[in-house]
Amino acid sequence: MKIFLDTANVDEIKKVRDWGLLDGVTTNPSLAAKELAKGISFKELVAQILKETPGPVSVEVVATDYDGMLKQALRIGALADNAVVKIPMTLPGLKTIKTLTEKRIPVNCTLIFNPLQALFAAKAGAEYVSPFVGRLDDIGEDGMSIIDEIKTIFINYNIKTKILVASIRNPVHVLRSAIIGADVVTMPFEVVSKLTSHPKTDEGLKRFLDDWKKDFGDGDFPL
Ligand code: E4P
Repeated sequence: MKIFLDTANVDEIKKVRDWGLLDGVTTNPSLAAKELAKGISFKELVAQILKETPGPVSVEVVATDYDGMLKQALRIGALADNAVVKIPMTLPGLKTIKTLTEKRIPVNCTLIFNPLQALFAAKAGAEYVSPFVGRLDDIGEDGMSIIDEIKTIFINYNIKTKILVASIRNPVHVLRSAIIGADVVTMPFEVVSKLTSHPKTDEGLKRFLDDWKKDFGDGDFPL
C-alpha cells in the first residue's frame, strides 16, 4: 500500500519523505489556500511540492465546465512528470477524464462518495479514484464500507484503476484500508505521526535504557 500525504505544506512533505514513508502527495484547493495565506504564490507552491515529492502529486482544477477543466488540466499536466490532475466526479469531469486519458495525462478522480461513481470514473480512464471516507463517517455512514465495495467491483471486472483512500481521519481508517487491499491511502501529517508511535514502544525503550545504564552508566558505547 502506497502512502501519500494529504497536504500542501512543503515542510510536512520533506519530513515524511525523510522518514522514508512518502510515496506521493495529494493537494486540494482548501489545503492550497491555507499555504497561500502565508504569502507564497500558487505557481511557486506547486513547483516546490512537485520538486520535493518522490512520486505522484495530485493538483486539482478549480474550473467546473469541460473547457475550463481541460485548459487547467493541460497546464497542470505540463508542469512535471510526477503531476497528476485531480478532477471532480461530475459529468463534465468524466468527459475531461476521458480526454486527458486519451492524451496520456494521469487523472485522480476526486470527491467520490459511492462505489458506482468509482466504477464510472474508472471506465472514463482515471488512474486513481479518491473515495472520501471521513466525510461519509461525518454524516453517519460507514465510509470504509465503500472501499470494500469498490475493491470487490474492481476485482470482479479486472479494473486496473487504483483505489486511493482519501479523507482519512485516524489510524483505523489506514488499518482497514490495508486489510481491504487499497492501493493508496492519503493521510494528513497528524495521522502519519500518530501511526509511528505506541505507548508500549516508549515504555519498552525506557526499560531497555534504564537496565543498560545500571551496568554502563552514561559512558561511551563499548563497541
Ligand atoms: C483527497 O485527496 C482530499 O484532499 C482529502 O483527503 C480531503 O479530506 P478532508 O475530508 O479531511 O478534507
